[in-house]
Amino acid sequence: NGNSQQYSYETLLETANFLLSRTSVRPHIGIICGSGLGAYWKDGSLAEQIEDSESIDYEEIPNFPVSTVEGHHGRLVFGKLKGVQVVAMQGRFHYYEGYPLWMCCLPIRVMKLLGVKTLIATNAAGGLNPNYKIGDLMIVKDHINLMGFAGNNPLHGPNDERFGPRFPPMSRAYNLEYRKIAKQVAKELNIDNIVREGVYTCLGGPNFETVAELNMLKMVGVDAVGMSTVHEVIIARHCDMRVFGMSLVTNECVTNDDTDSEANHEEVLDVGRMRQDILRKYVARLVERFAEY
Ligand code: 6GU
Repeated sequence: NGNSQQYSYETLLETANFLLSRTSVRPHIGIICGSGLGAYWKDGSLAEQIEDSESIDYEEIPNFPVSTVEGHHGRLVFGKLKGVQVVAMQGRFHYYEGYPLWMCCLPIRVMKLLGVKTLIATNAAGGLNPNYKIGDLMIVKDHINLMGFAGNNPLHGPNDERFGPRFPPMSRAYNLEYRKIAKQVAKELNIDNIVREGVYTCLGGPNFETVAELNMLKMVGVDAVGMSTVHEVIIARHCDMRVFGMSLVTNECVTNDDTDSEANHEEVLDVGRMRQDILRKYVARLVERFAEY
């Protein structure tokens, strides 16, 4: 049962040691570039902005799964952002591609072994909160691990205490200080009119939700819904990394039955492009500020 396996510590060390031998960068902050931060394109993406960058394709990295989503680059980019040593994942592994959750999260534990202290996880999401507009940025305040309710959890299976405890707490998963800094920086950049804060949930995908499903999520307090991040954050918190999460609202979820509009992937990408300059600037500034804290 692929659900109850885990990579061994030795396997993850092999991957980390390979990466440490390929780059002189010793990253302090890890960034997952979701749709909106350039998972799907090169020009103008956050990864492009990293200085003195060295990139390594996932295909070259021992033990890395190979990303199957068309348009995803699938590479790690090491370098400096505002003087801070970082590693960025351009493209992530999604559950809907067929990987079990523990496999999707391999890069997070590898980051830990590289010395990363802070994870910035970004994604594209559908906005459920009626106040949200397309193009808004949502600081993730908390998540609901819906897939975990059904027993599908990235920590399912044997626990290695070298990463963390068998029963890790998950309150305060999203670092409070980072959330404060992010709101402050939004003011400084004059984008506080589009920056929100809310609850994210992840569904397995790949289909978008039915109207009834979206109404249910709304009822239980979800502000934005996507297909990633939650399991990555659980793995990061398990090994005591500090976490910051941000969603780009790429569509308004339809919660009324009598409508014609449908969510689609093109719209998700278009909104990502529309906001890429702002997101790039915002995340770069956050990296600078998080590194001081
Ligand atoms: Cl509406 N749902 C999910 N699950 N993921 C999304 C989305 C919606 N919009 C962007 N990503």
